[in-house]
Amino acid sequence: MDMNAPIGQNALDDPKSIVGKPLDRIDGRLKVTGAARYAYEFAQETTTTYGYVVEAAIGKGRIRSIDTRAAERSPGVVLILTHRNTPGQGTGSHHEAHPVLTDANVNYYGQPAAFVVAETFEQARAAAYLVRVDYERVAGKYALESNLKYAGSPPAQEGQPHPDSAVGDFTGAFASAPVQLDVTYTTPLQSHAMMEPHASMAVWEGDKLTLHTANQMLSQGQEAVARTLKMPVENVRLISPFIGGGFGGKLWVNADAILAAIAARQLNRPVKTALTRQQIFHVTTHRSDTVQRIRLGTDRDGRIVAIGHDVFSGNLPSEQSFETAAMQTRTLYVGANRLTRHRLVPLDIPIASSMRAPGEAVGMLALECAMDELAAKLNLDPIDLRIRNEPTEDPEKHIPYSSRHLIACLQEGAKRFGWDKRNPKPGQVADGRWLVGMGVAAASRGNPLRTSKANVRLDPDGILTAKMAMTDIGTGTYTIMTQIAAEMLGLPPDRIRMELGDTRFPEAAGSGGSFGAASAGSALFDACETLRAKLAGAAGMDPKAARFADGNIEAGGRSKRLTDLVGNAGMEADGEIGPGTTLKDFSQQSYGAHFAEVAVDMDTGEIRLRRMLGVFTAGRILNEKTARSQAIGGMVFGIGAALEEGLNLDPRFGHFVNHDLAEYHVPVHADVPVIDAVFLPELDTKSNPLKSKGIGELGISGAGAALANAIYNACGARVRDYPITLDKVLTVLPVQA
Ligand code: MOS
Repeated sequence: MDMNAPIGQNALDDPKSIVGKPLDRIDGRLKVTGAARYAYEFAQETTTTYGYVVEAAIGKGRIRSIDTRAAERSPGVVLILTHRNTPGQGTGSHHEAHPVLTDANVNYYGQPAAFVVAETFEQARAAAYLVRVDYERVAGKYALESNLKYAGSPPAQEGQPHPDSAVGDFTGAFASAPVQLDVTYTTPLQSHAMMEPHASMAVWEGDKLTLHTANQMLSQGQEAVARTLKMPVENVRLISPFIGGGFGGKLWVNADAILAAIAARQLNRPVKTALTRQQIFHVTTHRSDTVQRIRLGTDRDGRIVAIGHDVFSGNLPSEQSFETAAMQTRTLYVGANRLTRHRLVPLDIPIASSMRAPGEAVGMLALECAMDELAAKLNLDPIDLRIRNEPTEDPEKHIPYSSRHLIACLQEGAKRFGWDKRNPKPGQVADGRWLVGMGVAAASRGNPLRTSKANVRLDPDGILTAKMAMTDIGTGTYTIMTQIAAEMLGLPPDRIRMELGDTRFPEAAGSGGSFGAASAGSALFDACETLRAKLAGAAGMDPKAARFADGNIEAGGRSKRLTDLVGNAGMEADGEIGPGTTLKDFSQQSYGAHFAEVAVDMDTGEIRLRRMLGVFTAGRILNEKTARSQAIGGMVFGIGAALEEGLNLDPRFGHFVNHDLAEYHVPVHADVPVIDAVFLPELDTKSNPLKSKGIGELGISGAGAALANAIYNACGARVRDYPITLDKVLTVLPVQA
């Protein structure tokens, strides 16, 4: 079905429904016992060989010569791929294809220059260091801020928001607004830093390729591999039952998969490869840094009359995707005159791509701090300012919201957090040597829906098997899908066999963009609806009146065992969901409010987060426990964005200096105090049959801004350059004088 009309009452609305309950992860035991197999852990056979990537050591230029002779003589080496012996491949944006070793050109530091395959990983790595590459270096453009003059307007393309939006007369309205704020924020280059390194194992049988690979969107990945290797899609199989996090870094096919596939075909042996932690930073994607100018003009009461957001981000000259940081600025607050623009700077550094709420995560670091600055300027409470600017319809599209409870989240959060104890004047609250402050920020993230399919089969033994090429990247997909199927067929969860992570199963949306649960879950729901109708038909019952419970179907006082209805072969049904008109007729976002309390050392500027609360609304919550965990994870990302994370680019050579987890800092336990996340009840009948909304990226959106605003409240330092490290706070610490 396509989402063309609001959803009425359905089986999930039963107050006793298992959907929503805090069911433990059904794959928890597999994970803690090591039985869950990840990409690198598949089939270790004697014929398996191991590949190691040789990275280009310059930012831009070409390979003048490459000497592999010593490496070829090194023990165990069976193949060295370079641009000289690698077959031609299909091309496209990094969403569509990932050709490797195509020619002598080096487009970015870390681009694979060779791939050494040996009998063992250690032999491959040792030989890789013997490959001698002679480069011809040319000048490259590496740093965003020093190349803004090359910014251009990215082309409008399908699957990506339009770079520009304009309503009314922004320039005129801003110029004549009684209160004006014009501020520029910068956010750094960031790395996904997922736990599991990228890994792939390629096995060929004739002209059929099987890739065990860590990938978030298998159906899309299957197409990208087929396009790159110029082979029919049906001859490519991707398998990925467990993935150790992705955060966007595994949305698309990366070099590990293609290199392994090409080498395995040449050798006619399985090839396994994993990127080292250090290689991940350059060989795969990162999030672009941004420069964001926000302009807010209000009347004397703080009602926004003009809102503008200009965003600069960078990417390779061959890529057109940009950091969509102004997306929420288009919809979050009122204002008759609006202008948002995204500009792209061509840079010769690795591929910039989606990472942890692409757009919103960094866009709201700017917008939600600007709102705090505006509140201070107007002498208004920041929550009051947001209430004054709450729209009744989408201010750009002039369509209703599917559901929107931002104010409820702000007010409930304020009550739970003790917001009334906040002193609005910065630098007033001290606890020993610590200056203490509170901050708030709105959370908001788009709610997409993507085409997804599912198949279910009920066997005579009472087991329901569901199959989808969906992935579980650690978010709890296996568990929530089990809950949906269990509820729909009235079976206990242990009667459900959930099979994910294989492109042999029906094509699925995959895990990304906060669309996974809604899309795959709705496809599964649809398949279960069809199976219910079939079972009712077999029982001679009206499907509308039938109830499913305890392995039975009941209607009109009659009851039958499901297992008696399915026959010897079992009974199957297919399901499908597709986006429809409700995505155009309704403005769809999930919402929330972040609250943070921080302490700033009045002498050293050291910043400590003391407590944090997120209150969210995201339609039906499919599992209270996994949803809360995911929201908290997102909030922890927010801590990293506010205080720690950032790749340091060497502007001379175009490489990321801190390319490991010792120096690319993400929050650790000591950085994360008491955090809670709460979901307020909500059902969204316009979003999808589950009435849920995406939560994957809601937790991070706005989270870091709450910390930044708390830092301002604590000590009066308004740092507009993320991350907010102590050196930046020191320059403005009022107690310094
Ligand atoms: Mo997400 S950045 O779509 O994994």
